[in-house]
Amino acid sequence: MKIRKAVFPVAGLGTRFIPATKAMAKEMLPVVDKPIIQYAVEEAFAAGIEQIIFVTGRGKKALEDHFDRSFEIEHTLMEKGKDDLLKQIQQLVPQTGTIVYTRQNQPLGLGHAIWCARDIVGDEPFAVLLADDLIQTDKPVLTEMVKKFDRLRASIAAIMEIEKDQTDKYGILKATQIEDDIVKIDDMIEKPKPENAPSNLAIVGRYILTPRIFYHLEKGKKGANGEIQLTDAMKALLNEQPIFGYRFKGKRFDCGDKVGFQMANLAFALERPDMRDKLISFIREIEKKF
Ligand code: UTP
Repeated sequence: MKIRKAVFPVAGLGTRFIPATKAMAKEMLPVVDKPIIQYAVEEAFAAGIEQIIFVTGRGKKALEDHFDRSFEIEHTLMEKGKDDLLKQIQQLVPQTGTIVYTRQNQPLGLGHAIWCARDIVGDEPFAVLLADDLIQTDKPVLTEMVKKFDRLRASIAAIMEIEKDQTDKYGILKATQIEDDIVKIDDMIEKPKPENAPSNLAIVGRYILTPRIFYHLEKGKKGANGEIQLTDAMKALLNEQPIFGYRFKGKRFDCGDKVGFQMANLAFALERPDMRDKLISFIREIEKKF
């Protein structure tokens, strides 16, 4: 079955980014000149996704407006003859009807946010993208995962190795390597202390899940940090179905974290020919100070 739908949970409080996130979802913060969410939406469409499901909380209006037409701006750009910019803002608006919004009325956790999309997803496998995990890669992660799904016909999570002392920030796996870039997950635990972590293999924000996950999310069991965790529902799903991990190639930035966000801005800006040289000379200049 084709992966047609992608859920974007964007209802977290973003407390690590206060005050920027007081009135705005952190996914609307820009990396270079695009909101973080736009990178993930582009990745989803490139992977063949046909319907985007935003699970929103605060910041809903800015998000909705971003993916909608702005006749005012279009008119002004047209009058000023700024055709390139006009094309750019017209292209970022998906065809009407391809974006659906639902609301998580309390930030009870990532698992709960995904559960809020259950009726819109229905009985088919679907993707989940956490936009604040921004991944710089030659092979877009979701496209690769869709290919893996076509072959494995089971849930898949993107995974990477992390520093051993960082395990309490991630869902951590016990897994068996079965192919170069694929592991079969044996067990998983959310945010273990380094001494309790079964490995340093962590799940990052790209998933393809079978709809059976909703059955386990429905139970609303609270886990780490008192939140309804996706990892706990996936662990329960493991008793019924295999789940695989895909080791992507590329650099992942945690844009929910201030340092990760600054690194992402720098890394993505350095890829831009119009910004690269100026930034490099600035980096060289300030480097001398430290
Ligand atoms: P995070 O763990 O980064 O939490 O959520 P957060 O609340 O957004 O940020 P901090 O830790 O307070 O700074 C991971 C993803 O899950 C979504 C977030 O929007 C983010 O994409 N999420 C989290 C929800 O949609 N709802 C929730 O209740 C929790």
